[in-house]
Amino acid sequence: MHQIFLATTNNFVDSLYEMNLMAYVGYEPTRCTSFSNVFEKSSNISSKKQLIVVSLSVIENLDELIFRLDSCPSLYTLIIGKTNFEHDRALVVQNKYDIREIIRCSAKLLDVTARDMALKKVPDFYPIPKVIFSKLNESESDIFKKENDEYIRIYKKEDEYSYQKDIFATMEEHLYIESKKRLSFINQTSKLIVHELKDKSLKVDEVLKIADEGMNVVANSILKNDKISKEISQISKLCIDAISDIAKSVSKAKKLLEQLLNNQGGYIFNHTVLTTYLAKQIIKNMPWGTKEQEDKVAFAIYFHDIYLVPIFNKYDEVDEETLLFRSDVFEEEKETVFDHAALAGELVRTFDRAPLGVDTLITQHHGDLHGKGFPDFFNDEVSPLSKIILIAEELSKHILENVKENNLSLAYDKSLIKKKLLERFTRHTYKKIIEQVDKILL
Ligand SMILES: [Fe+2]
Ligand SMILES: [Fe+2]
Repeated sequence: MHQIFLATTNNFVDSLYEMNLMAYVGYEPTRCTSFSNVFEKSSNISSKKQLIVVSLSVIENLDELIFRLDSCPSLYTLIIGKTNFEHDRALVVQNKYDIREIIRCSAKLLDVTARDMALKKVPDFYPIPKVIFSKLNESESDIFKKENDEYIRIYKKEDEYSYQKDIFATMEEHLYIESKKRLSFINQTSKLIVHELKDKSLKVDEVLKIADEGMNVVANSILKNDKISKEISQISKLCIDAISDIAKSVSKAKKLLEQLLNNQGGYIFNHTVLTTYLAKQIIKNMPWGTKEQEDKVAFAIYFHDIYLVPIFNKYDEVDEETLLFRSDVFEEEKETVFDHAALAGELVRTFDRAPLGVDTLITQHHGDLHGKGFPDFFNDEVSPLSKIILIAEELSKHILENVKENNLSLAYDKSLIKKKLLERFTRHTYKKIIEQVDKILL
């Protein structure tokens, strides 16, 4: 028998992992309250393998983890978070909502195969940590409680219930669902991220973290199927709202960027949030600018580089076109980079009720009418909103590049920015937009 120890920062996420590890890997994890608690609990147990599933933020000292792994050959670890940690008996999953990957890596470390799981006997009723229900307003299956070895139905499928006021407040740690429903029940837990994105009490840094992870969830899901599912469309909409709210709440681009850099999110996420802020500012200053246009542009910018998220997560780069010339980037990835505007334009056509014309804005975000490559000539045929996106992108790239190089005074130098933009976008219609740079709060 193997043993799993689980230590993350959030009780709810722990429960989510617990439920999935039980259902898909076949072991009930032992919950730990801290990094040292993991070793207190694991040292008295003589199981075949001991797997620690731990959030990066819980680990006090990575050197200590290496020491522990080196001195105990039956110890394995799965770290959840953004780290380059390497060890023969360790794997890393960057996104805490990527439950599928967490399951896959845990099973791999413990050598549990799908066949092993199929052969396992499962009791008729399946325990679900009570806290899981607290984040769902309704259940997709009947809910039971256990009393004297009997299972009593307390809620029917789709009954609405309230966690705080209701029976949950007084009951034990687990409730039950029928085992045959367990996989479909567990698979709907992406509602978690929806719930977190709806939480209006969060601070900007917390919202940034969740929206960044939400963007990764969306990007990963479109890699697997080239359509936007209902769930993914809901997550995207909430992320777009969150980004728009953040853009509204900050006073200057500089402040926004400070917060983004503190968040340590992905490059495409930072680029997306900053570009959204800048494009909104330009629209606000255009005599014809409306709130609808701001919303449409926020939507377009959210998806414009979505196919690049995994590629930028892999390579340290700030320029999209440069990826085409790097020898370490695979040909297939270069094709995606070349076509990313066209691919994303096609993708949003599968989105239920996307703002009208947003697919064209996305397709043309590098100035090519068909969304291919990175033209140097910007023609007049693209719409005014496309031009705003082009300028905002260029502006955002200038700021991010200079901040990365630590040239802070150049990053926010309006006259330098205007000069560069006027050299690149020579047509008269672009000039009118570039003039707005003076009014944008950098
Ligand atoms: Fe972009
Ligand atoms: Fe792009």
